[in-house]
Amino acid sequence: MTITQLALRQRSLLGLRELGREEITSILDRAAYWENHPSKVHGVLQGKFAANMFFENSTRTRFSFEVAEKRLGAEVLNFSAAVSSVQKGESIYDTVRTLESMGIDVGIIRLKPIGVLADLATKIKVPLINAGDGNNEHPTQALLDLYTMRGHFGSLEGLTVTIVGDVLHSRVARSNLYALRKFGVNVRFCAPSNMQAPDLDVKYVSMEEAIQSDVVMMLRVQLERHESGMLSSAEEYREHYGMTLERLKRMASHAIVMHPAPINRNVEIDDEVVEHPQSRIFPQMANGVPVRMAVIERALS
Ligand code: CP
Repeated sequence: MTITQLALRQRSLLGLRELGREEITSILDRAAYWENHPSKVHGVLQGKFAANMFFENSTRTRFSFEVAEKRLGAEVLNFSAAVSSVQKGESIYDTVRTLESMGIDVGIIRLKPIGVLADLATKIKVPLINAGDGNNEHPTQALLDLYTMRGHFGSLEGLTVTIVGDVLHSRVARSNLYALRKFGVNVRFCAPSNMQAPDLDVKYVSMEEAIQSDVVMMLRVQLERHESGMLSSAEEYREHYGMTLERLKRMASHAIVMHPAPINRNVEIDDEVVEHPQSRIFPQMANGVPVRMAVIERALS
């Protein structure tokens, strides 16, 4: 790898598996700086062009990247696959290469097929930020999750975090696992046998053990990624793996419930839990903006 390729690689954010604890801490600290400087627009990225390239649907990630880019003073280009030449058969590579040739300075990219992002990163000469890569990684989601936990507990060291639900299809679970372990967090999973991830070396616990954790991170049942028959019924799933109000009431008073959203209300999480004082779901979304400001600034610095 040449020095130029290495520098590009260091400004990109493809995943947290390869990112060191110090680098993650530096992003979280910079996010705290931006949270404490709430004035709407800063001109630090004036004259820079950021392209949000979403080949898969998104609400939170897409809009919080756009808010982050605008707050940093960047020019924002929004690409949506549904109204693009992808519909005429244009490939992901040709689409990204097209935007690169027009002079973008950073590409934020969400993809469904696994392996494409890593390949693109070897060919495209602007930094790329992973905004959700199949069931591989979702690094900015995990960064905002770590930021939320650090904000609540003061430190990550020694926490027990149990990630509950459809871990097999979850890029959020993977990125959180890789990052949290670097900070000495005891990460456990809780999932039905057909939603467990055999490639990950993690201890599985029961729902009764899960609610003894400092953080219970609920995952969305990703019906769009399921083969038929994976979910027998929503009621049965809720009974065995749902964060019901009754389960929440048995958690410690210092403990919190998280969820990356979107949520399936009354399947993996009860209505009454979503905005309960021990839920951090909407604060997680708010934290997405300063965290993504820090990630974009790092890419363009
Ligand atoms: N958490 C998350 O990635 O949400 P979106 O799919 O709405 O971006």
